[in-house]
Amino acid sequence: MTDTSRPVPNELLDQLFRHARSTTPFADREVTDGELRALHDLWRTAPTASNVQPLRLLVERSPEARARLGVHMSDGNRAKTLAAPLAIVIAADTRAGEHYPEIHPERPELRERWLSEPSASDGTRFNASIQFGYFVVAARAVGLVVGPMGGFTRRGVDAEFFPDGRWRSILVANVGHPGGEAASPRLPRLGYETVVRTV
Ligand SMILES: Cc1cc2nc3c(=O)[nH]c(=O)nc-3n(C[C@H](O)[C@H](O)[C@H](O)COP(=O)(O)O)c2cc1C
Repeated sequence: MTDTSRPVPNELLDQLFRHARSTTPFADREVTDGELRALHDLWRTAPTASNVQPLRLLVERSPEARARLGVHMSDGNRAKTLAAPLAIVIAADTRAGEHYPEIHPERPELRERWLSEPSASDGTRFNASIQFGYFVVAARAVGLVVGPMGGFTRRGVDAEFFPDGRWRSILVANVGHPGGEAASPRLPRLGYETVVRTV
């Protein structure tokens, strides 16, 4: 059994957090399917409500698919999306509850509850977003870098790639191997006193 009570080495904290940027330029190097599978083996461990796991990825590998995606990116994001080693549409499965017999075998009744809850769509997006946070950190752990982008037309991407309406886009993420320093220094992060209250 791994001892999970020990802090990981400082060097690893630098790689995962302190030195990691989401605005790092990419090296001219392919991201393989093997790397995406290794990454999935890590990010899929993210916690979600009742283990619902709604995150879905549409990997845009072919130039033809990338061009279809580019049409829906904002002007500021289009060129980098077309040039990135890989672009991935980060989406949520609005019927993720259908997997309950597989993902929570002792509680298959969760399927109906999740699929019929009025708040399911909020919950779906929220839980997929938690999973995406893990995706970003897992990518750093395997030597990749992720550039998330909210600047695109959601309705356009959904009509283009998810016409049956089951998956809905949340973000587009460029993924690659780091290829140098970020162009600008890291923006300040809020201090402890601002973001934490103790009662
Ligand atoms: C939800 C989300 C949306 C973002 N949208 C964009 C975007 O549309 N275009 C862009 O260039 N960067 C985008 N970013 C990247 C942020 O600007 C970046 O993560 C932030 O400035 C921190 O940069 P750092 O991780 O390098 O410190 C987005 C990040 C997130 C998490």
